[in-house]
Amino acid sequence: MINVGVLGATGAVGQRFVQLLADHPWFTLTTLTASGRSAGRRYGDVVDWRLDAPFPDAVGDLIVAPTDPKSLRDCDLVFSALPAEVAGEIETDCAREGLGVCTNASSHRMEADIPLVVPEVNPDHLGLIDLQHDRGSDGFIVTNPNCSTIIFTMGLAPLRKFGFSDLRVATMQAISGAGFAGVPAMAIYDNVIPYIGGEEEKMESETLKIMGSFDGSTVTPAPFRVSASCHRVPVIDGHTMAVWADVEASPDEVREAFRSWRPPIADLPTQPDQAIKLFDEPNRPQPRLDRMRGGGMTVSVGRIRPGLRFIAMGHNTIRGAAGASVLNAELIAQKNYL
Ligand SMILES: NC(=O)c1ccc[n+]([C@@H]2O[C@H](COP(=O)([O-])OP(=O)(O)OC[C@H]3O[C@@H](n4cnc5c(N)ncnc54)[C@H](OP(=O)(O)O)[C@@H]3O)[C@@H](O)[C@H]2O)c1
Repeated sequence: MINVGVLGATGAVGQRFVQLLADHPWFTLTTLTASGRSAGRRYGDVVDWRLDAPFPDAVGDLIVAPTDPKSLRDCDLVFSALPAEVAGEIETDCAREGLGVCTNASSHRMEADIPLVVPEVNPDHLGLIDLQHDRGSDGFIVTNPNCSTIIFTMGLAPLRKFGFSDLRVATMQAISGAGFAGVPAMAIYDNVIPYIGGEEEKMESETLKIMGSFDGSTVTPAPFRVSASCHRVPVIDGHTMAVWADVEASPDEVREAFRSWRPPIADLPTQPDQAIKLFDEPNRPQPRLDRMRGGGMTVSVGRIRPGLRFIAMGHNTIRGAAGASVLNAELIAQKNYL
């Protein structure tokens, strides 16, 4: 078994990590950290458990540690659910101390020798870990993209063979994407907020790195353009997006591409049986009905129309955050980087 810790274990994404790791077949959850507000207290007492899944009693007695490499000495790997403002330095310190770091935070995503990975889309980019080791780091950092970018690139992966010249995407993003303290109830009920700070820029830049080509030392960004418009809607979990892609393929060819696509990974515990679910009904996918497919790891697509236009939807804190990071860690373990 591989000993793991969660940094920022009390937050929206941190709680998902705890849920996914509490009974994991490869990883043993030994350490939970949070801010000074929570450190030193029993996790079961300090966490305000808000998930639609039972609290894993086995971790209730763990004492929350300060978020510091010294607290993580018995870990081989840590998962970071820290706010970006504090994550960058702490994650670098952890990697310097020899830890593997799988992070949801944006701080390191666009750095040249740090992989930005969605296992079903660009597993080969994990080769950048070797560059981090060559540079003298015993540990390493691997990032996963922002939640909407994961769902977007998963929806694009089966269509890659057609080539893209231009992509446009309009998102309808759940409130859990802003963390527990993120959007006041009075602002989001009966409302749509047409701005999510930094989100459009992340979708536009991260997509090109993920779908870029890796030659063993450098990732060359994908050559197409992405234009994103991001919106917050009163949905608890599940980001939906309307996608317009300039591809040379008919809707029938695209449907067949979605149906026949198989991801380039296998035998990972968090990998769903079906990476992409294609709907033929015109009123699907919907967050409430479809976000928990494949344990929250399946991305659902539908409404394929000429243009090419389609809808993609996935669970933002599982597929788009904690589950994505756990899947990255499983692939890292399978490739013997730990
Ligand atoms: N929510 C999503 O759908 C989503 C998706 C993709 C990526 N992300 C990224 O994941 C990260 C976490 O997001 P979230 O929504 O889970 O945030 P959150 O609910 O606000 O949780 C933040 C966590 O970090 C801890 N923390 C805050 N300041 C700290 C500090 N100075 N030192 C140590 N720990 C500190 C908090 O501990 P206390 O409880 O003690 O304050 C809490 O455990 C962010 O970088 C976010 O951008 C989120």
